[in-house]
Amino acid sequence: MSDRYRQLANTPIGRMVTKQVGLPAPVELERYQPGQPVISGPVLLGAAPHSRLAAPATAVLAAIGAEAHTALDDEARGAAAEARLDAAVFNPQAAPEDERFKALVFDASGIGSSEALREAWAFLHPTIRRVRRSGRVIVLATTPEECGEFPAAIAQRALEGLVRSVAKEVGRGATAQLIYVAPGAEDAIDSTLRFFLSPKSAYVSGQVVRVGSPKALPEKIDWERPLAGKVALVTGAARGIGESISEVLARDGAHVVGVDLPARSAELEALTSRLGGSSLELDVTDHAAPEELAAHLLAAHNGVDVVVHNAGVTRDKTLGRMSEEQWSAVIDTNLTAPQHIDRELFARKAVRENGSVVCVSSIGGIAGNAGQTNYATSKAGVIGIIEAFSSTLAKLGVTLNAVAPGFVETGMTAAMPVARREAARRMNSLAQGGLPIDVAETIAWLANPASAGVTRNVVRVCGQSLIGA
Ligand SMILES: NC(=O)c1ccc[n+]([C@@H]2O[C@H](COP(=O)([O-])OP(=O)(O)OC[C@H]3O[C@@H](n4cnc5c(N)ncnc54)[C@H](O)[C@@H]3O)[C@@H](O)[C@H]2O)c1
Repeated sequence: MSDRYRQLANTPIGRMVTKQVGLPAPVELERYQPGQPVISGPVLLGAAPHSRLAAPATAVLAAIGAEAHTALDDEARGAAAEARLDAAVFNPQAAPEDERFKALVFDASGIGSSEALREAWAFLHPTIRRVRRSGRVIVLATTPEECGEFPAAIAQRALEGLVRSVAKEVGRGATAQLIYVAPGAEDAIDSTLRFFLSPKSAYVSGQVVRVGSPKALPEKIDWERPLAGKVALVTGAARGIGESISEVLARDGAHVVGVDLPARSAELEALTSRLGGSSLELDVTDHAAPEELAAHLLAAHNGVDVVVHNAGVTRDKTLGRMSEEQWSAVIDTNLTAPQHIDRELFARKAVRENGSVVCVSSIGGIAGNAGQTNYATSKAGVIGIIEAFSSTLAKLGVTLNAVAPGFVETGMTAAMPVARREAARRMNSLAQGGLPIDVAETIAWLANPASAGVTRNVVRVCGQSLIGA
């Protein structure tokens, strides 16, 4: 569905009017096109004293061929030289006023006290207004629970407030994220840093992601087709977000097994044959569905690498008017079915090592929503699945994460009353709705075997929605 207001706001007259009247000014977000570099434009890297992530971050910037500038001190700049990064030294005082960056990356892992938080201010104060359109601000830090000392744990936790506020201030379609990296997991940041630097994360902002030590990382990865040779199961694949997830996972090299209701067989079949995948028509709530799915995946593919629980329904009514049927339809589809399917797949060892399971939650599951007690319960329960099982699956070398979309332009949201739809679109830091591809790209990052250190995360794809932040 098209967003006419955004189109209008991006005309010369629209820009003038929105500015003068103080209306939301959604910019056209840059989105990834295959073959494009991870980032186009200069990246400024800085670090607080005693930080430990500048070297791995530098290695990633070198690997992606980024035009890097650095505000690192001499000691940390050695890391840049080691990674053969041809980094120019950036001096905020001496730099030309019009010097602008596509990304600011700040390693805050060395901040060990509240006083030392000043280092983050010192880096961002002269640079924050130099972030380009659809730019990125990324703060790397140490997972607070894994900081040995209380003052360090408190200071690292404080960075959440900084980054979430920067995401609200930076404007012009730019985003800000905080990536907590556990001690020992320095080499596992590659896929996450790439994702957040790139236009693939266009509609993800104000997020806090934890990267831990994976059981194993792939020795080599083809970043254009990280899922080559892998099999991905996508439920609810026939349309909307599920269709986009299937397309993106297939673009990344996976054989997609799409699942949807028999009533959607024509759309499903058309999609999977276009993608060179295969389809299974079934109702995920059927008693026999988990067994049927596991049997198919084992017989046809000897297992599965990526499982995406995307099938979902709404039956909106305030609780006092909600029938038992409306309650159960939503809980059964959104919450019970993924558990039954996972139980069967893992009992039959159908999910291969270095695999991933991604569940689709919703910001409704975080914030709650009037008229959606059933839906919000189911989607909060999906977060419960992540919290309950991720450590068990980690032992099997399988990651388990959720994405929580905000307002996404699909058939589901096109059916909303006009006033509610318009309000939902604008009530986020990017002042617009997301697209199905934004959810799909986030899932593809989580499904990438190089994201083996990313588990137990709930990542909101909501443009930093004001609801439930
Ligand atoms: N659109 C949004 O703004 C939004 C926001 C937050 C979360 N989500 C979630 O994203 C997911 C996809 O949503 P969408 O907007 O693409 O919805 P959609 O209605 O366009 O697509 C959902 C798909 O799931 C299928 N499905 C439903 N019940 C099924 C069942 N029992 N068995 C098999 N397939 C079934 C449907 O046939 C449909 O093809 C859902 O889990 C939804 O709750 C969407």
